[in-house]
Amino acid sequence: MKFFVDTADVAAIRELAELGIVDGVTTNPSLILKSGRDILEVTREICALVPGPVSAEVVATEAAAMIAEGRKLAALAGNIAVKVPLTWDGLKACKVLSGEGRMVNVTLCFSAAQAILAAKAGATFISPFVGRLDDVGAEGMDLIADIRKIYDNYRFTTQILVASVRSVAHVTEAAVIGADVVTAPPAVLKAMASHPLTDRGLEAFLQDWARTGQKIL
Ligand code: G3P
Repeated sequence: MKFFVDTADVAAIRELAELGIVDGVTTNPSLILKSGRDILEVTREICALVPGPVSAEVVATEAAAMIAEGRKLAALAGNIAVKVPLTWDGLKACKVLSGEGRMVNVTLCFSAAQAILAAKAGATFISPFVGRLDDVGAEGMDLIADIRKIYDNYRFTTQILVASVRSVAHVTEAAVIGADVVTAPPAVLKAMASHPLTDRGLEAFLQDWARTGQKIL
């Protein structure tokens, strides 16, 4: 499973990249706003931080303008994945940009039908938003399971990139289902390491070690 970090916060990306667990980054207009940075400048900086795919999202809504924006974003670095929304024009842009050999991440996916179209349009990644489906009372992870089954049925090569991840459970459930990638906020990725029994067990080990009076170094 690949881990992408869902943020445009360069410091947070750098910290996780140093651990060696970051396979890519995803951004979107809201994350760019949150960063307070210029999209071209911060995206270029992120691309230099991680060797894997860095998703940068177009903001046009008509296919021709999406394609023009996508080409400009793709020119920033060799590891850019152009992000387009799952609309009819986004699918048109995906078909053209992927046909030019560019990585495309089709985002804002909320149904299996949408995911089928994205695969047919040559998407490199499909981004189903599990958290936002949960928010409206649907089961976001059920969509991931459906897409996995459909893509496997027809050997689609589009990678399932689970997005809108809000919890460690989302990550582990995505892994059980066999999603290719999860993109998660830094805090969720860090939370994966935490467990109260680990903390309690380590405390007990250290207390017992102290009673041995020994040192290793
Ligand atoms: O990658 C999409 C993600 O940034 C959206 O997350 O929590 O706003 O649904 P959220």
